Amino acid sequence: MQIAIDGPVAAGKGTIARLLAKKINARYVDSGAMYRAVAVLGLRKNISLENPVELLLELKKVPLRLRPARDKFSFDVYLNDENVQDNIRTSEVSRGSAVVAQYPKIRSYLVKIQKEIASKFSVVMEGRDIGTVVLSNADIKIYLIADQKTRALRRQKQLEEKGEYVSFEKVLQETIERDNRDMSRAINPLKKASDAIEFDTSNMSIEQVINELVEIIKEKKI
Ligand code: DC
Repeated sequence: MQIAIDGPVAAGKGTIARLLAKKINARYVDSGAMYRAVAVLGLRKNISLENPVELLLELKKVPLRLRPARDKFSFDVYLNDENVQDNIRTSEVSRGSAVVAQYPKIRSYLVKIQKEIASKFSVVMEGRDIGTVVLSNADIKIYLIADQKTRALRRQKQLEEKGEYVSFEKVLQETIERDNRDMSRAINPLKKASDAIEFDTSNMSIEQVINELVEIIKEKKI
């Protein structure tokens, strides 16, 4: 079974995809974590994030892999043999990930890994181009949205939980910039697939969204 979940920054993709995967006994794949790990690699090695040739060379040397996490149903991202899962959520890495995600060769390197995982396991995979490109034949495609203010508040809370305190205005600005970059890039931009079901999560509880998704899966009889 393949379930694709796409949407803009902090629309609830991660939380919902993770819970849903657990509920239906599938693996949860966070494709954004992989773009984030590429940004971590560039920042660590002092490679400009606007230099896709150097980044790709380094990426092939390292390389980047997904390995089962402790919970057994999700994956942690590794650079070489180092688990970098705890290093990918800073604001600097968020900004950088939207930059490296513009480059076709970096995208194809990561999309190949994403497709491989989905060929081995039932997955709930979230990102920006999952319904349109990575799992274009997914059984179910979900497009999550929420209003800008709700999303910025969620993002601010996520950062706070990691010990990073950023003003609401700054988070809002960064959210807008990252969405613009993700939606306007030439290659595989964030876009709702024509056959995706849209959910506005602004006024829905996580439980409500999960229950509706489970109903949709039942109806589809996958
Ligand atoms: O979902 P996220 O915020 O962790 O993703 C980080 C960045 O990676 C995001 O700005 C866009 C990029 N991304 C992408 O281009 N395609 C994906 N499938 C997932 C993420």
